Amino acid sequence: MSPGFIARGKGCRVWDLDGNEFIEYGSGLRAVTLGHAFEPVVKAAQNQMVLGSNYNRPAVIEVTCAERMLSLIDADKVKFAKDGSTVTTAAIKLARSFTGRDKVALCGDQPFFSYNDWFMATTPVDAGVFSGDREVGVKFSYNDLPSLERAFADNPGQIACVIMEPSRTVEPNEGYLAAVKEMAHRNGSLLILDEMITGFRYHLNGAQALYGVKPDLAAFGKALANGFSVSALVGRADVMDLGGLYHDAERVFLLSTTHGAESHALAAAIATMDFYASTDVIGVLHQQGARLRSGLEQVVADARAEKFFGCGGRDCNMFFYTKDQDGQPSQTFRTLFMQEMIRHGVLAPSFIVSYAHGDEDIDKTIEAVAKSLRVYMRAIDEGVDRYLTGPSIKPVYRKYN
Ligand SMILES: Cc1ncc(COP(=O)(O)O)c(C=O)c1O
Repeated sequence: MSPGFIARGKGCRVWDLDGNEFIEYGSGLRAVTLGHAFEPVVKAAQNQMVLGSNYNRPAVIEVTCAERMLSLIDADKVKFAKDGSTVTTAAIKLARSFTGRDKVALCGDQPFFSYNDWFMATTPVDAGVFSGDREVGVKFSYNDLPSLERAFADNPGQIACVIMEPSRTVEPNEGYLAAVKEMAHRNGSLLILDEMITGFRYHLNGAQALYGVKPDLAAFGKALANGFSVSALVGRADVMDLGGLYHDAERVFLLSTTHGAESHALAAAIATMDFYASTDVIGVLHQQGARLRSGLEQVVADARAEKFFGCGGRDCNMFFYTKDQDGQPSQTFRTLFMQEMIRHGVLAPSFIVSYAHGDEDIDKTIEAVAKSLRVYMRAIDEGVDRYLTGPSIKPVYRKYN
């Protein structure tokens, strides 16, 4: 049922190889927030491409992009790279160099910070990681200050940094993020906010502005260039400078990568940020998400499916949960729901909207959910296997295929 390959995309729609059209959610793993092939971004990349894409000497567009980034995000310095994993890892390397410590306190309720070993060693998919990395990660729970306090108490003088997303599925308790920063500093460590998802989605100036907490370092990517490969490490000058050329301290080999300054990707990032700054993109993401949420709540109530299906997260970043007949979280029912949505022309691994989701797309989605829930509720009564046309999806963090 699920389209194996996508041939092209425009706005919030994609087409598979057979020409089937789908409304798509969570596009590009949440990177394509303005919609596929968004013209101002594509044009900017095309215009830059003809000037050459990579030079030995620094390109002026790197400075322009850095100035644009720092006009939106409150930080002293920025360094660009190609993906999120490398900038979260670079942030950790800087924090280690700054503090002279090795360990990393990471929020255990948040699923992903990097494909690099320091993080993968903390998951069940740890085959091939360097064994020393298994000693590095110390987990704490979100909105639970005592759990962070314990992490510091159990590892005295060893934790270089706290890394976390500002929020994920739930909002931070009043004063929580400020207290995390204070606790990190009191224990001689740094706060790194991972804004890969929240950046350019929750607030124009980052979730750090929304929640009023300025981290020591922060990592951005995904929506920054509307699907082009650009990520950014930003932060305090005294920490960032360790990765630069103009200091007397020991050098950190930070983010020196061949393709880091690919000029058309930076042009795409500038065009994306310009559009965000001149148009209320964030407002539209929230507004369309809210329209979708209220429609979904209505059809879920109509189907009497509240015990089995629902939505969570901010309007601009909505996920759905699926439960079985016993009220237990179920990947099999998730598969069935997605299968039925595909049957009705919607690819929905989440309900994360883009700027390109218009009212008509949202309303069609709500109709598709209403139809899919009819099958879902029949499967609750009669058993899910008779309705599934293929194998169930599996959790990402599993030891074996
Ligand atoms: C919160 C968070 N941090 C970091 C990453 C890693 O980013 P990338 O896939 O660009 O390496 C992701 C990717 O999904 C993410 O969701």
